[in-house]
Amino acid sequence: MANNAKTYVNLVFLLAIALSLHVIQGQVQPPIDAIYQFGDSISDTGNLIRDNFIGEHSPFASLPYGQDFFHEATGRCSNGRLMIDFFAEYFKFPYLDAYLNKAGNFSHGVNFAVAGSTALTTGTLALKGIISPLTWSSLSVQLNWFQSYLTSICPDLNDCKNKLANALFIIESGGNDINYAVMERKNIQGIYGMVPEVIGAVKAAIEEVINFGATRVVVPGNFLFGCMPIYLYMFPPNNATLYDELHCVEQLIELSTFQNNFLQKTLKELQAEHPLVKIVYADYFNAMKGLLQNATALGFDETLRTCCGMGDNSANFGITKICGFKGVPVCPNPDKSVSWDGIHMTERAYKIMADWLLQHNILPAISKAA
Ligand SMILES: *[C@@H]1O[C@H](CO)[C@@H](O)[C@H](O)[C@H]1NC(C)=O
Ligand SMILES: *[C@@H]1O[C@H](CO)[C@@H](O)[C@H](O)[C@H]1NC(C)=O
Ligand SMILES: *[C@@H]1O[C@H](CO)[C@@H](O)[C@H](O)[C@H]1NC(C)=O
Repeated sequence: MANNAKTYVNLVFLLAIALSLHVIQGQVQPPIDAIYQFGDSISDTGNLIRDNFIGEHSPFASLPYGQDFFHEATGRCSNGRLMIDFFAEYFKFPYLDAYLNKAGNFSHGVNFAVAGSTALTTGTLALKGIISPLTWSSLSVQLNWFQSYLTSICPDLNDCKNKLANALFIIESGGNDINYAVMERKNIQGIYGMVPEVIGAVKAAIEEVINFGATRVVVPGNFLFGCMPIYLYMFPPNNATLYDELHCVEQLIELSTFQNNFLQKTLKELQAEHPLVKIVYADYFNAMKGLLQNATALGFDETLRTCCGMGDNSANFGITKICGFKGVPVCPNPDKSVSWDGIHMTERAYKIMADWLLQHNILPAISKAA
């Protein structure tokens, strides 16, 4: 009897889960027909390696980048697919081609993201004494590319608005402005002051795509970048560097939290000004936090150590022995590592975060009635 009751409870419980899954899937039918991506190495599917001489000769242009899925380097900064690839898979689109790829097929959108790029222009950063070492193609350059692309597909602006009405825009920028400032200056407190300007550049980009006709704009915040092996290498544990419970550099976690809060406040204001547009904060910070907290259960052995890299420190990172340099080894099973090269994550880490973001954050937000 007791057993039957238990079986019954289990059955009801399973039904409830099945029903709620059904509801979630029922919600998830936004008529999205294209994705336009702006951003940096988190999203670049091949622009930097075509953007300039440094990009062409960067490690991202050769193996082991891409080794585990594409079996060749595509310009993606990982061992395989990125989150944008998993988003494209979800919508049953082909992987988004890079804008600078002359053979690209843009039937379901375009990827304008350039690895190494910043939200502020290289000129603006230079005035602050910050060098953007890989590319000049900052967010405003990517928006110029978008504008040229639009004029090529729809010379009439109203026609463009119709074309973009069912598109998803992702504007992921501003991480590198902070990265370069930290790496080049190391004075973390002095960086807080530049956050409003960086977010201002992201805001201007959102307003620009809305003017062109965007109706759904997803804007990711910063990762827990203080957990990246490059920073664990730069800020080794000592009295000046406090580590948090996840063994990340606490001062950097605080900085990214400040940046994310500032971004969320800005998005709320923008949303109030544009009630017919869905402006969605994508919580990359908590997607990564959940992954790190559940790392063991998710089958990861290494969370704070590079898979591809070398260094006589616990982060397995060295600035002269970075992934892609001669003689730098790759771990036998990248699926067991969160960090691919110390700055970028592995395909498997990206897949777990992309799935979480779609189900808990992006899909519910874009399918909600305006
Ligand atoms: C581009 O991709 C779409 C499918 O995603 C396909 O139908 C179309 O034929 C492709 N165009 C070219 C020129 O290859
Ligand atoms: C931290 O600072 C205290 C006091 O200056 C010193 O005694 C101690 O050895 C330091 N610890 C480390 C790990 O540097
Ligand atoms: C981590 O585990 C918690 C508690 O079990 C769960 O709520 C959360 O969604 C998990 N996150 C990920 C990324 O798996």
